[in-house]
Amino acid sequence: MTQVKMTVNGKAASGDVEGRTLLASFLRDNLKLTGTHIGCDTSQCGACVVHVNGEAVKACTMLAVEADGADVKTIESMANADGSLNTIQQAFQDHHGLQCGFCTPGMVMSASALLKDNPKPTVAEVRHYLDGNICRCTGYHNIVKAIMAASGQDVSALAAE
Ligand code: FES
Ligand code: FES
Repeated sequence: MTQVKMTVNGKAASGDVEGRTLLASFLRDNLKLTGTHIGCDTSQCGACVVHVNGEAVKACTMLAVEADGADVKTIESMANADGSLNTIQQAFQDHHGLQCGFCTPGMVMSASALLKDNPKPTVAEVRHYLDGNICRCTGYHNIVKAIMAASGQDVSALAAE
């Protein structure tokens, strides 16, 4: 076992892990941050996306020991300080960007990373960015619409589905 230390959602976190322990498992099993979902074992679904040192990362593609010393943010850090939904989360609710919600943490974390780098993306850019996030329920349209709305753009021309 190896001890890892990192900052998770602004707080110091540590734990003993095996060399093979994934960051996703460390977050869920050691830190009980179960908002980071695991939806596949092929690194395709994106349900596990977190931010590591400000970059969107699939937490199932990184070992916990690789994140030693890193600044990690999970979906649990996304709400506003008063507990209300942040702009992206609220847009997902307002525009029905979720159904079962399983993909939603990863979608929100990916959307957050996209809007940090590209505050006014086009629809095509949003769809391209979400290439690594799979949703089995929504058909993506309302997810894209929610992210466009979260970026402050007019989505009235994007028909509801
Ligand atoms: S659990 Fe990480 S991509 Fe599916
Ligand atoms: S809302 Fe069910 S997988 Fe996306």
